[in-house]
Amino acid sequence: MHTRGQCYEEYEETARWLLDHADQRPDVAIICGSGLGNLADLLSDKTVFPYKDIPHFPISTVPGHAGQLVFGKLQGRDCVCMQGRFHFYESSNISMVTFPVRIFFLLGVKTLIVTNAAGALNDSYNTGDIMTIKDHINLPGFAGVNSLCGQNDDRFGVRFPSMSDAYDSDLRALVKQAAEELGFESVLREGVYCMVAGPTYETVAECKILQLLGADAVGMSTVPEVVVASHCGLRVLGLSLITNKVVKDYDSGEKVNHDEVLRTTQRRTQDLQKLVSTLITRI
Ligand code: HPA
Repeated sequence: MHTRGQCYEEYEETARWLLDHADQRPDVAIICGSGLGNLADLLSDKTVFPYKDIPHFPISTVPGHAGQLVFGKLQGRDCVCMQGRFHFYESSNISMVTFPVRIFFLLGVKTLIVTNAAGALNDSYNTGDIMTIKDHINLPGFAGVNSLCGQNDDRFGVRFPSMSDAYDSDLRALVKQAAEELGFESVLREGVYCMVAGPTYETVAECKILQLLGADAVGMSTVPEVVVASHCGLRVLGLSLITNKVVKDYDSGEKVNHDEVLRTTQRRTQDLQKLVSTLITRI
């Protein structure tokens, strides 16, 4: 098992290397979810670092995830964009998943925008909807897999951080406003995201439990990064693209699959791009 990302000096080394090699000084970071990596295409004056070239940086293995850190300007604002994120199921090493977030913090980032692909648990949601995350359920956390387990480093944050306000309410209000201006109100939702470890999609019985728990959407990412971002005081905005409905009926004959997820992201990615670039100047 890797120990990557577990000592402060490693984080510092990576951050210093990036500050030495990039001209931009971003205060906003964007993590692009499955199939949503082309959000990085919006950036101008880009400096691109493949993850494999960045000291101590993990490497992403999932199709639909490019694996590079892109610095640049979005609407004139310095940003850094993770094109390709890490999932717990890739390595079972949660500190690999959250490593980049602490790097963002050390780079001086103040706001983190996280996007993901998610399955709809809420019956009123449609494929293609965009859900602002208002709260999450850290299901792996219930089972002892929390990204803050292990020794706490006070230079990042406190031992027992509150998570009740992890998703910034002002940023959520900005999304609503921007969506109205763009004419997206009919596809905009606000709800609770539940993280499962994956890589299996949920069984019918599991979907029923998640609905009972109060989750509106389910996915295999985001929560570890948000926990670490909130721990070190970053403001967080989470956006889920609803790529599919979960299977809740044994007789439906339907199955969720990654191709369907990627097809929906391709269909909706431009609208998500518009939303993020409208927001960025107002954050
Ligand atoms: N379940 C879990 N993760 C997902 C799904 C889903 O239905 N869709 C996209 N990511």
